[in-house]
Amino acid sequence: MSEKGHNVSRRQFLNYTLTGVGGFMAAGMIMPMVRFAIDPVLKKGVDTELVTTKLKEADITNEPQKIDFTVNQVDGWYESDVSMSAWVYKDEQGKIVALSPVCKHLGCTVNWNGDPANQNEFFCPCHLGRYTKDGVNVAGTAPLGPLDVYEHEVRDGWLYLGKAKPHPKA
Ligand code: FES
Repeated sequence: MSEKGHNVSRRQFLNYTLTGVGGFMAAGMIMPMVRFAIDPVLKKGVDTELVTTKLKEADITNEPQKIDFTVNQVDGWYESDVSMSAWVYKDEQGKIVALSPVCKHLGCTVNWNGDPANQNEFFCPCHLGRYTKDGVNVAGTAPLGPLDVYEHEVRDGWLYLGKAKPHPKA
C-alpha cells in the first residue's frame, strides 16, 4: 500500500470517529430537551379528572356547606396541587349543587348567609354582591353573572368534583 493511501485511510478513520463521537454527544444533549418539551403533551387529560372530596353524599343537606378539596393542576410542564373550595347542597329535588365561591364581580369569596339583612343568600362582602341560593346574581348588586358550578359525581358514596363551568343560567 502506498503512503498516500495509508494517510487517506487514517483521515477517514478520524472523520468517522469524530463524527460518531460528536453525534453521540449531540443526541445526549438533544434527547432530554425533546422529552422535556413534549412531556406535558403525553400527559394530557391529567387536569380534567374529577377529584375526591371528604364529603359523603349522605352528609349533603339542603343547607349549603363549604368544603375544601385539592386539584392536581398541570400548566405546561409545571405540575402543582391547588386548594379549591365549593359550596355544596341538595336542591328541592334532591339534586346536588356545587357552586364556586369565587364572586363573578372581582373574584372575592362569597359566603352563605353572610349578610344579616338578606338571609338564605350568598353574599360577597367586598362590594355587597348578592346571589340567590341557586347561585344566580341578584339584579342591582355588583356581580353581573351567576356563580360557576362544579362538575360533580358520586362514587361509592363520596362526592367527587371536577372543573368549574359557567352556570346554566349564565
Ligand atoms: S368582588 Fe364580589 S361584589 Fe365585588
